[in-house]
Amino acid sequence: MKNIVLIGFMGTGKTSTGRLLAGRLNRPFVDVDKKIEKETGLAISDIFQLYGEDHFRQLEREVISRVARYTNTVIATGGGVVLKQENMVRLKNTGIIISLTASLDTILERTSRRGVRPLLDCEDRAERVARLFQERASLYMRADYTIDTSCMPPHQVTEKIIGLL
Ligand code: S3P
Repeated sequence: MKNIVLIGFMGTGKTSTGRLLAGRLNRPFVDVDKKIEKETGLAISDIFQLYGEDHFRQLEREVISRVARYTNTVIATGGGVVLKQENMVRLKNTGIIISLTASLDTILERTSRRGVRPLLDCEDRAERVARLFQERASLYMRADYTIDTSCMPPHQVTEKIIGLL
């Protein structure tokens, strides 16, 4: 059976929704960032700080190439997975792609905890979020379906996805 792959900007609810969805469908769940952290023994923010973003993207690419061989699994990706065309080709071949989106205000609120998302650890977070969101918008639109999670808790998003399958 095909995988269900969740893509989307930071703070759109990929991990929480993915976990609930996997439970509802009785399928395994994989979170790409958590897998990277487990395999390296380092937090994502430490990988960025110690080795830089390019190195993180290589690790991400390598994990995607492996999880794309899974079947029947719910896969939550990191927000930057769309930056490499190669990742998207692999994920598209393996299953249905669902893009989660949210308003900039919602994203800012949900990503306000410091030290978790290295790309947003800066003085002007609002500006950074707006710029990255704008740069990536067309990439997230390559999904099979898009769901706006701004006013929806993860369990509702989960039911909405089940309705699409
Ligand atoms: C990133 C998103 C993060 C994580 C890393 C880079 C991005 O994942 O992979 O900090 O480039 O958007 P979440 O989308 O789960 O926060």
